[in-house]
Amino acid sequence: MEKQWWQKEVIYQIYPKSFYDSNNDGVGDIKGITEKLDYLKSLGITMVWICPIYQSPMADNGYDISDYYQLNPEFGKMKDLEELIAQAKEKRVKIVLDLVINHTSDEHPWFQDLLENPQTSKYRNYYILKDGIDGEPPTNWRSVFGGSVWEPLNGTKEYYFHSFGVKQPDLNWENKNVREELYKMVNYWLEKGIAGFRVDAITFIKKDQSYDNLPADGVDGLVKCTKKTRNQRGIEVFLHELKKETFAKYDCVTIGEAPGVPYEQYGDYIGANGYFSMIFDFRYADLDVASGSEWFKRVDWDVLDLKKLIFTSQQQIQKAGWGATFLENHDQNRSLSKYIKEEKNRNFYSATMLGAMFFYLRGTPFIYQGQEIGMTNFTRKSIEEFDDISSVDQYYRSIKEGFNEEEALHFINLRSRDNSRTPMHWNDQAYGGFSEVEPWLGMNENYKVINVKSQEQDSNSILHFYKKIIKVRQTSEARNCLIYGDFEPVLEDHPTIIAYKRILNHQEVVCYFNFSSKSQPVELNNHLYDVLLNNYKEKNTFNSNQQYELKPYQALVLQKKEASCYE
Ligand code: NOJ
Ligand code: CA
Repeated sequence: MEKQWWQKEVIYQIYPKSFYDSNNDGVGDIKGITEKLDYLKSLGITMVWICPIYQSPMADNGYDISDYYQLNPEFGKMKDLEELIAQAKEKRVKIVLDLVINHTSDEHPWFQDLLENPQTSKYRNYYILKDGIDGEPPTNWRSVFGGSVWEPLNGTKEYYFHSFGVKQPDLNWENKNVREELYKMVNYWLEKGIAGFRVDAITFIKKDQSYDNLPADGVDGLVKCTKKTRNQRGIEVFLHELKKETFAKYDCVTIGEAPGVPYEQYGDYIGANGYFSMIFDFRYADLDVASGSEWFKRVDWDVLDLKKLIFTSQQQIQKAGWGATFLENHDQNRSLSKYIKEEKNRNFYSATMLGAMFFYLRGTPFIYQGQEIGMTNFTRKSIEEFDDISSVDQYYRSIKEGFNEEEALHFINLRSRDNSRTPMHWNDQAYGGFSEVEPWLGMNENYKVINVKSQEQDSNSILHFYKKIIKVRQTSEARNCLIYGDFEPVLEDHPTIIAYKRILNHQEVVCYFNFSSKSQPVELNNHLYDVLLNNYKEKNTFNSNQQYELKPYQALVLQKKEASCYE
C-alpha cells in the first residue's frame, strides 16, 4: 500500500475519567491530560486517543452523548480542550477524539423532544420507532447490554430501538436529516484541529429493514441482535457518504471500531479507497469468551490458538490494507491477567514480552493507559462494586443461565470492563496519586507496587522497557522495516513460541516471544543477527544439540545483518 503518515504513529488510549484528576474531585479530566503530556512524550507517544468527553449523563461513561457540541463539565471547558490541543501540537502529539454516531443519550434534546411529543415531534424520524405486536416488543432481539433492544415509548404502543443500553437510543441512519446533522458535527470537530477520530460501533448504523424474529439463543427467549444489526447489507452506502461528506475533506486519521466484518470484506473497510484508515480486529482479544459477548461462556485456549488468531488477522489485514493493533482497551480486561494464565508468572518478563509481541506486528500500535506499567485486573467482592453496565447485565444473565452468584461474580471479575477502567497508578501515595480524594471507581491496592513513579526510578522496569520498545520502532535502523515491512509467520506450529518476521526489501527483522515459564530451544544462528531488543540482560546459552535456548517469557527481536557482510 502507499505510505501514509498514520502508519508511523504510536497511539496511547486515554480513558479520561481515570487518567488524572487535576482538580481533586475524584474524576479524571482534560487538564489532567494536559498536565501529563510530558509523561506521554517521554514514553515516545505521537498520538493520543481520548474516549468520549462530550456532555453526557454517563450511563455508559460518555458513550451516551446528550450534546455533541458541549463537553461534560466534569471533564472541563472548551477552552481546556483547546489548550490541550494547542499544547499537544507544540509537543508534536496529535489528538484523536471518539465519535459516537450510532446512538445518542436518551437525554439528548432530540430524544427529549420525542418523549415530550411522541406523536408530533419533528424528531420522531431521528430514532427507530416501531409498533409492538400484541403487547410484545416488535422483535425478539437482545441488546448488547442485555434485555430487549426495544423499550416502550411512554404513552404510546410504540417502542424505540437501542443496540446498547436503554439510555442509548439508536439514531435512524435511514433519515437523511440525521446523517446531515452528524456530518455537520463531525466537520465541526475536525475544524478544531484534531487529527481524527476513533469511530465507535460504526458497523451498527444499518439495521436489517425486515425486522424479523430469529430463533432464541438464551433462556431469556431472546437472540443476540448482531445478526440483524451489524454490518448489514446497505451499510456501504452510509459509510461511503460519511467518508465523502467528512473525513475525505481533511487529512485525518480514522480508526473504525468495526466488529462483525468478515475478512473477505476488509478491503472495503481499510483498502486503498476504504471507509477508514484502519480498523480494530477483536478476534484475538476475545479468544477467552464465546463470540466476545457472553462472559459466562468461557473458552479454554492455548498459545497455539492465540497465535493462529493473530497470524490470520495479520495475513488478512495485510491483504486488505492496514490495521490497528492492540492488547488492551477500555472494553477489555488487562492483558497481563488475560494472556498470562498463572498469577505467579505475571512479572516484568511476561509483561514486556507481551508488549513487544503486539508492538512489532504490522499495524499502528495502541497502548492503553496503565498497560505500560503492567497494571492488572482488580477482583471485586460483590456486584455492588461494579460500575460498568455490561458487567451488571452479564452477572444477572449468568445467574439466569443457571450459574450461582459466586460463579457469576467469577466471570465478571475475569472479564469486566471495570478491570481496565480503574484509576491510573501514578505513585504509591493515597489513590495512586490519581486524585487526593476517593476516586469514582474502586482501585487495586497494588498501586503501591505497580506505579509510574517507582518505575520511572527503576531503569529495569516495565515502563522503561516500553520506552525501548517504542524507540526501536520509531528510531532504530530497522524502523522502516518494523513500520512498513510485510508480516511473515515463523514457527507456525510451535506450541509456546510466537515468532514472526517483518520484511522490507532487503531488510529483515525476526521476533521471538516465549510464552512459556520454561526455557525453549529454537534453531537460530545468532551470528547472522544483531539484537534490536531483548528483555533479558543475561546471555542466552546453547543446549547440547546446539539449539539456542530462549529463556522464560523472553522477547528477542533481531535484525538480520546486511547480506553483504557474509558474502
Ligand atoms: C464501544 C465502546 O468501546 C464501548 O465502551 C461502548 O459501551 C459501546 N461501543 C457503545 O457505545
Ligand atoms: Ca477532576
